[in-house]
Amino acid sequence: MTEKKAYLNIEGHDPIELPILSGTLGADVIDISNLGSHGYFTFDPGYTSTGACKSSITYIDGEKGILLHRGYPIEQLAEKSDFLEVCYLLFYGELPTAEEKSEFIKTIGTHTMAHEQLSFFFRGFRRDAHPMSIMCGVVGALSAFYHDAMDITDARHREITANRLVAKIPTLAAMSYKYSIGQPFVYPRNDLDYASNFLHMMFATPCEEYKVSPVLAKAMDRIFMLHADHEQNASTSTVRLAGSSQANPFACIAAGIATLWGPAHGGANEACLQMLMEIGDESRVDEYVERAKDKNDPFRLMGFGHRVYKNYDPRAVVMQKTCDEVLAELGINDEPLFRIARKLEKVALEDPYFIEKKLYPNVDFYSGIILRAIGIPTSMFTVIFALARTIGWISHWNEMVSEPYRIGRPRQLYTGHPQRDYPE
Ligand code: SDX
Repeated sequence: MTEKKAYLNIEGHDPIELPILSGTLGADVIDISNLGSHGYFTFDPGYTSTGACKSSITYIDGEKGILLHRGYPIEQLAEKSDFLEVCYLLFYGELPTAEEKSEFIKTIGTHTMAHEQLSFFFRGFRRDAHPMSIMCGVVGALSAFYHDAMDITDARHREITANRLVAKIPTLAAMSYKYSIGQPFVYPRNDLDYASNFLHMMFATPCEEYKVSPVLAKAMDRIFMLHADHEQNASTSTVRLAGSSQANPFACIAAGIATLWGPAHGGANEACLQMLMEIGDESRVDEYVERAKDKNDPFRLMGFGHRVYKNYDPRAVVMQKTCDEVLAELGINDEPLFRIARKLEKVALEDPYFIEKKLYPNVDFYSGIILRAIGIPTSMFTVIFALARTIGWISHWNEMVSEPYRIGRPRQLYTGHPQRDYPE
C-alpha cells in the first residue's frame, strides 16, 4: 500500500513532505519527527493533538465511546472476566488459558507481602497525611528494595517487577489506610481472591474474624478492572516519560501516582463525592449546574467531561449499572447521593452548554458512590484508582522498554528575554 503523505507549506520554504502513518484502528498520524531538521517544532500544550508513541495495549474511540483492552471491549470484560485476568491480558497481550491464569494467580500470591522494613516508612508520616501522599512515598521506596535485581533490559526482571507491583500495591494501599486510622497493619491472605484480600486488609482487625462480603468483593473487583488502563492519559504518559530516562520502574510508578492524584485526573472521584455531599439535596442541583457553566466561577462538575470521550465514557455506563446492583444488594438504593447524582446527570445532559461541549459523565462520576457503599473512606478513593491503574502503568512501561526507545525531551516556544548582558 503506498504510504500516504502530508505536505507542510511554509512561506519561503519548499513544501516539507511528512509521512502519514496508519494504525490498526483510529486516526492516522502525521510523523513530524524530522520537522526539527527544517528549523520548526510543533506547538501543542496539553498534547490535545499529539501522539507520543505507538501502543497495542488499549484503544479508545472518544466519539463512539469505545474502550478496548488488547481488542476486547470493556463491557465484555466487565461481564465475563475479572481484574487479575485483565492484568494478565494487559501485560502479556492475550487472555490466559485456565492453566496460565491459575499459575499467574499463584505467582501474584507469592509477592503480596511488603518487606518488613517498608513499614518503617509509614511511621514518618503524620497520621492525618493524605493516603496518596503516603503511597507516593512508599511505592517510590520500593526502588530501594529491588534495585539490585533490576536489569530493565531483561524481560524476566521486567516481568518480576510487574508481578511485585500488582501483588504489593493492595497491601501498601491498605497499610496507608490502617496507618491513617491508627490500626495495626493486616497481612495479606493468599487463600482469598485479589479483591477479597484487599478488603480484608482494609477492614479486618486482630481482635475478631472478618468475613468479606462476596457482593462487595465482586464490586471491588469490577472497580479495579474499570480503572486498569486508559491509553496515554496524564499519569501513564508520566510513567512513560520517567521510564524513557531508564529510571527505576518503582520510581516511575511513584511518579504516575503523583500525577494521578490531581483532581483533574484520578483525584476526581474523591472530588466528585465531595461535590455531591456539598450539593446535599436534589433541589440544589440546578444551582450547581449553573455554577459549572459560569466562566467566572472556577467550579466544574467533577466526574464530568473528558479529553478523549465526547460521548459517554463506557466505563461510566458499566459503573452506573454496578452502582445500581450494589446499592440494591445492600438495600440502600434510596442513597441520597445516588439520587443527587442521577438528577445531576439528567439536568446536565439536557443542558445546551453540556451538549454543545460534549460533556458526559466519566469513570469518576459513579465510582465514588459505589466506593462509599462498600465502606471505603473518601480519602482512599484515588488510592483505589492508583491500585488499579498500576497494571496499566507497568504494562505501558514494559511495552516501551521492550522496544528501542529514546529519552522523551519535548521542545518549547521561548517567550523570555532575548540575550542581555549582566549590568556592569
Ligand atoms: C480521568 O485521560 C484519561 O483517560 C483520564 C482518565 C483515565 O482513565 O486515565 O479517564 C481518568 O482523569 C477522567 C477525568 C476526571 N476529571 C474530572 O472529572 C474533572 C472535571 N473534568 C474537567 O476538569 C475536564 O473535563 C477534564 C480535565 C477531564 C478534560 O479537560 P480538557 O480536555 O482539557 O477540556 P477543557 O478543560 O479544555 O474543557 C473544554 C471545555 C471548557 O470550556 P471552554 O473553555 O471551551 O469554554 O469544557 C468545559 C471547559 O470549561 N468543561 C467543563 C467541564 N469539563 C470541561 N465545564 C464544566 N464542568 C466540567 N466538568
